[in-house]
Amino acid sequence: MDTNKRPDSMARITTKELADQFIDEQVALVRSQVGDKKVLLALSGGVDSSVVAALLIKAIGKQLVCVHVNHGLMRKGESEQVIKIFKDGLDANLVYVDATERFLGKVKGVSDPEQKRKIIGGEFIRVFEEEARKFDDIDFLAQGTIYPDIIESDGVKAHHNVGGLPEDLQFELVEPVKLLYKDEVRVVGKALGLPENMVDRQPFPGPGLGVRCLGEITRERLEALRESDAILREEFDNAGLTKSVWQFFTVVPDFRSTGVRDGKRVFDLPVIIRAVNTVDAMTATVPEIEWSVLKKITDRILAEVPGVCRVLYDLSPKGPATIEWE
Ligand code: XMP
Repeated sequence: MDTNKRPDSMARITTKELADQFIDEQVALVRSQVGDKKVLLALSGGVDSSVVAALLIKAIGKQLVCVHVNHGLMRKGESEQVIKIFKDGLDANLVYVDATERFLGKVKGVSDPEQKRKIIGGEFIRVFEEEARKFDDIDFLAQGTIYPDIIESDGVKAHHNVGGLPEDLQFELVEPVKLLYKDEVRVVGKALGLPENMVDRQPFPGPGLGVRCLGEITRERLEALRESDAILREEFDNAGLTKSVWQFFTVVPDFRSTGVRDGKRVFDLPVIIRAVNTVDAMTATVPEIEWSVLKKITDRILAEVPGVCRVLYDLSPKGPATIEWE
């Protein structure tokens, strides 16, 4: 039997009852696969790895070793949320690696978008590998592979890419949600008690804020990006837009423009607001956001984020524009 093929008879998981049944089955399967051995998981805080973590904690508790690598390109509060939910809430065996300095050092001076992506992805594998080598008693590697990964890219998660681990670090894979579609993973996550804002999270690129801090990543612009993004998210939430708009974030370009502050001319940063609606991310439209909401966000960014003198709203649909700027 091809274990990577979803059986035609498999019911779509749409309710808590079906999710509970799936969870019970997987808990039993994982226990029989793993026995008393340890399992390693790269826990990014994204939907898929978070659901796998919660499922495995239920199945094998502290035999699961979660490694959360903070590459310094996370959104505001994201790593803290991972620690709060998994370490404090679920008592997970969680290794937190703050590799901010290391990643920012690696991308220093690099402005080409593809080069940035490659460096961040490659460094992620190296940091994860170094952590994996610290344990000599781990036989299994858990992955948040989901069914579209199998159908679209041979079972390799484009942004996790643990397929890139060296030969001598070969683990047996544990992939409990590999036959599920994204909406089913979310239903299972909710049934496992994960918070809605984690389970319904928007897509977030593997290289994180690195692809939204255009050109060379500098600390000043990265901070402006993180702070403006947090304000945008807070105000979209206040306006009840979090569930109705598919994806939204800010972008900080690598050029400056003139402004006036305290009667003096300054040469400061622009912040671009990007918000899109889409079904499959292949095409996207731009929602008509209430002027008062845009104005509130603009006022807050200009008042609260140092070094920003302009805020723009990107009106471009996909295509010809892509959703991300890089
Ligand atoms: P684009 O910019 O191509 O984005 O219209 C389509 C969707 O994919 C997300 N995206 C990424 N996701 N790694 C990811 O995991 C990446 O490198 C990446 N780049 C874009 C993007 O946020 C949007 O939802």
